[in-house]
Amino acid sequence: SDVRVVLDSRFTIGEVDRRLFGSFVEHMGRCVYGGIYEPGDPLADETGVRKDVLALTEELGVTAVRYPGGNFVSNYRWEDGVGPREHRPVRRDLAWRSIETNQFGLDEFVDWARRAHVEPMMAINLGTRGVAEALDLLEYANSAPGTALADLRVAHGHRDPHDVRLWCLGNEMDGPWQMGHKTADEYGRLAQETGRAMKRLDPTVELVACGSSNAEMPTFGSWEATVLRHCYDVVDYVSLHAYYEPHDDDVRSFLASGASMDRFIDGVVATADHVRVAQKHSKRINLSFDEWNVWYQGDFPGEDALDWEVAPRLIENAFTVTDAVVVGGLLISLLNHSDRVSMACQAQLVNIIAPIRAESGRPAWRQTVFHPFAGTAANARGTALRAAVEAPTTVTAEHGTVPVVDVAATTTGDGRSAVFLVNRRPDEPISVELELAHLGAIAAAEHTVISDADPQARNTVDEPDRVVPTTREVTRLDAGRLAVTLPPASWNMITVT
Ligand code: AHR
Repeated sequence: SDVRVVLDSRFTIGEVDRRLFGSFVEHMGRCVYGGIYEPGDPLADETGVRKDVLALTEELGVTAVRYPGGNFVSNYRWEDGVGPREHRPVRRDLAWRSIETNQFGLDEFVDWARRAHVEPMMAINLGTRGVAEALDLLEYANSAPGTALADLRVAHGHRDPHDVRLWCLGNEMDGPWQMGHKTADEYGRLAQETGRAMKRLDPTVELVACGSSNAEMPTFGSWEATVLRHCYDVVDYVSLHAYYEPHDDDVRSFLASGASMDRFIDGVVATADHVRVAQKHSKRINLSFDEWNVWYQGDFPGEDALDWEVAPRLIENAFTVTDAVVVGGLLISLLNHSDRVSMACQAQLVNIIAPIRAESGRPAWRQTVFHPFAGTAANARGTALRAAVEAPTTVTAEHGTVPVVDVAATTTGDGRSAVFLVNRRPDEPISVELELAHLGAIAAAEHTVISDADPQARNTVDEPDRVVPTTREVTRLDAGRLAVTLPPASWNMITVT
């Protein structure tokens, strides 16, 4: 065989945090309005929630959802979105030059999150607002009745506190496009003071400081170091955002996007650990990769071209088979950093560069990228294993020399294991031998694949199941060894019980 993978339950990376399978709902385009919420649509219930999107969210296996932005949050007043709908103001959203009706807000989101069985992860506005407004929001969301803002929540029909644990201290504050963009020193101080006050009010919250908007930012590395020097004590995580796409039709590099995610994560870990050492902290800051996906950024006309519409159609990329393989590879990278990446959010959940698509009056459907996410979320459980991989390499223009396969593996300790593999070669299959003797006895093995003779194939509203996972044969070599063949440009999952 071309590749040999050896797995042993004694060689581990870390526990897979269920929050790794998060997603993201922003007030942007048709993610909220026309996505999770569309009152009057035949597929919506009496609260306006689209039941088909809700069901697909559960099927996707999403565990946490970040809300309400994104760039949107940096000029957002959370108070606009609570209370009787008829009194909610219509505002201009400066991030996406759109009209925000505020018919959906914090309380509706938390209700939706509970129904979807996902943990809410709130982002606060640290662009145009500061400590006082963050505290108001936290009191409204999490405080027991008896003080003004908690009582306002009760008056709005929510007696019990929402008990939101995860809070993002702003969004992409390093980006010059952000409303209220800040220098690292300005943001680091604000994150420190906001976080300190929030933890005084509610010591159970977990706080995420903004890292870099992407690894190509000129300030990447120095931004994290400066920000964390200010707020290391008070925050729990630092964020990473990254979107991947092919450049100059270079599929070989695109299929190896996981290598770029690996390097980005390693860089942030090194920077956070540098501050830990330099400031003599004992606690470690872990990573929240709270925006990641494939995104064809050339399709976006730019904010200035947008013209104050309500829920315009924005960046509704129709993903291909190749995009799904890349998404599977990015999930492999996250799993292989289970020791330091505690949570991650695929951006976004519905319509906006999303695994789920919805059109009025038509059943929502699964994009190609839905399938590797759902497979990984369902089967990557327990402990991530450090796989020993012997594989040939391939040379890519963007990432240099990389192994032809990307591999991650997990095991539960009660006999359930899963191996995830991407064949990064666009036009050749790869034969793989898996040595699993040290994972326990193998009763059954299944090989699930995403690949297609047409790598550009997509799912559409009229042909929603054009691309679905298929199963392939697994050859038993002897008691602890399996052999599989990975088709060209494919995502593969081998589940073993
Ligand atoms: O997900 C789309 C946008 O990408 C988000 O609003 C922003 O945070 C990022 O730049």
